[in-house]
Amino acid sequence: MSKITAFGTYVPERIVDNHYFEEIIDTNDEWITSRTGIKTRRFSKDGEYTSDLSVKAVENLMANSGKDVSDVDFIVVCTTSPDQPMPNAASRVQYKLGIKNAGCNDIYAACAGFVYGLQMAHGFVNSGVYKKVLVIGAETLTKITDMEDRTSCILFGDGAGAALVEPDEQEHFMAFNSGTNGDLGHDLYLSHKKNSINGVGINPNSKIVQNGRSVFKWAVGNIPNKVRELAEKAGLTLDDIDYIVPHSANLRIIEAIAKDLNYPMDRIPESVTEFGNTSSASIPLAIAKAERNGKIKKGDTLLLIGFGGGLTFAGAILKW
Ligand code: UT7
Repeated sequence: MSKITAFGTYVPERIVDNHYFEEIIDTNDEWITSRTGIKTRRFSKDGEYTSDLSVKAVENLMANSGKDVSDVDFIVVCTTSPDQPMPNAASRVQYKLGIKNAGCNDIYAACAGFVYGLQMAHGFVNSGVYKKVLVIGAETLTKITDMEDRTSCILFGDGAGAALVEPDEQEHFMAFNSGTNGDLGHDLYLSHKKNSINGVGINPNSKIVQNGRSVFKWAVGNIPNKVRELAEKAGLTLDDIDYIVPHSANLRIIEAIAKDLNYPMDRIPESVTEFGNTSSASIPLAIAKAERNGKIKKGDTLLLIGFGGGLTFAGAILKW
């Protein structure tokens, strides 16, 4: 059986507010705030990459918990913006932290990444394959954002979160689910070479491109039912869940999910207003913020649900 035994996050220093974009594209603070809820986001520095943010998140994890990570067996970095395609980001983290003997793999599942990472860590630990697994959700999305595309550049931000999964005498993970609509793959993509998905022409410009309306509709139309299914799988009602933590893509998506589920907004931690959409880092950043604000506490039952490019989603219910 397993649990998360330590946790830490990190965001780059540079704070960028909505007015920054008024100088470079045709937009304004009022549009960005009312359509997305975003007020600020963080930009990584030149030369600061996903593995650097990951390392800082793990250092904060160690400072928060007093845990040592030098003996972890496996490192999973969930990211859409690795330093480079090869070597993977997890191997860079292994090297930079001087971890001696760890398997390293990246999960490439966009905004669902961190929850997929937890599912994988749980499988490794509960099966006895590995004992100590570091799961990191980290992104430098601003390095793969088309800053001339006003429909996307205002959304994204950089950040990282790290969780250590270890064996325990009690099971802290209560249920998982996941699913994918590859038929909508062309609605959110980053392509280096290929110029079509599902027979639909796409722009291979090595930047994130999305059909925001379609992704919005898919998320709002599907995620509430996936939340209900997951709670049922764990034998719980939504009243038994202390906090639902969805991917922080857009405050309006979160509000629509809350309304559909008839679940109070003050029990849905978010990171999008302060940090923008940080993809696989958004759920850890929302949890960290809710902990800082005295909301999420040890022993609370959390339902996490990540969703995005694929289009794919992954959910988990766990005792924090
Ligand atoms: O992490 C998962 C990945 N992504 C997402 O979850 C994104 C999901 N989608 C969204 O968050 C929203 O669809 C957006 C925030 C991207 C867009 O909001 P929307 O309410 O769906 O706007 P829209 O695309 O329907 O566009 C409305 C109008 C359009 O103008 P017209 O055609 O009505 O004249 C856009 O051209 O807003 C215009 N617009 C902007 N105006 C000012 C689009 N971007 C901007 C902008 N500033 N930055």
